[in-house]
Amino acid sequence: MPTIDPAQRLALATAVAVEAGALALRYFRNLERLAVEHKGAQDLVSEADRAVERLIRARLSELCRGEPVLGEEGGADPGDLAAGCWVVDPIDGTWCFLNGIRSWCVSIAYARRGRIEAGVVVDPCAGEVFQARSGGGARLDGRPIRVKDAARLDEGSLSVGCSRRTSPEEIAPLIDALLRRDGLYHRHGSGALGLAWTACGRLIGYVEPHMHPWDCLAGLLLVEEAGGWTNDFLAGDGLTEGNPVLAGGHRLKPHLLALTEHWGGRRVGS
Ligand code: IPD
Ligand code: CA
Ligand code: CA
Repeated sequence: MPTIDPAQRLALATAVAVEAGALALRYFRNLERLAVEHKGAQDLVSEADRAVERLIRARLSELCRGEPVLGEEGGADPGDLAAGCWVVDPIDGTWCFLNGIRSWCVSIAYARRGRIEAGVVVDPCAGEVFQARSGGGARLDGRPIRVKDAARLDEGSLSVGCSRRTSPEEIAPLIDALLRRDGLYHRHGSGALGLAWTACGRLIGYVEPHMHPWDCLAGLLLVEEAGGWTNDFLAGDGLTEGNPVLAGGHRLKPHLLALTEHWGGRRVGS
């Protein structure tokens, strides 16, 4: 298998994510024709999610033959994922997408041996492309980005993610504590976008009790490469089972840890 250097890897991930975003946007503009299935309560999937993932897998297999893919819809390819794999969410924010809300994105990352090496988040509705490479910085539409260096929770909005995998007891006390500290909560309905917006300083941070790797790996690298702090999501079996996510500026770290203290055993890798 030819070696792909890190800059090439990011360039090809970006090209694939942009093409995938354009396909997703065509489905979004014709939502009324889309067949939707229920995976569970508040958990939907459509032909758009599957078609976009098929396109991403086809392109990655043309460009990086033999490298395994872990995708939300298609699962894990055979092989040693920890030794290097692409991690793909064809549409992050499906609930928004299927309800006509312009808050969804395509997320592609490459992780190897416990480290995230490349990450791309494409927001087709906004026409924005977020890119990060390990040691190479983070960019929005080609321009370097930085996290907001907030020292307190009242300096901006904190994105609080939740899903059907989360209990009300994990979220309600956190919102209560945040409001009591004059903070504000935000929820995109797309964790990857929430992390990308943290990386470029629109939000001061992101917390969620459980995310899958396809939801967050690209976004976590964006935050780290934009000068921020994240918990060690890939600790333990994070790559296969997921973990909690905490991300923000370094000076916000103690506040994020305090807000999520009640997550107890869930809070690994912080
Ligand atoms: C979900 C979104 C949501 C986050 C969940 C994810 P999906 O992904 O990112 O914002 O809170 O943890 O599962 O189902 O829209 O791809
Ligand atoms: Ca997702
Ligand atoms: Ca998805």
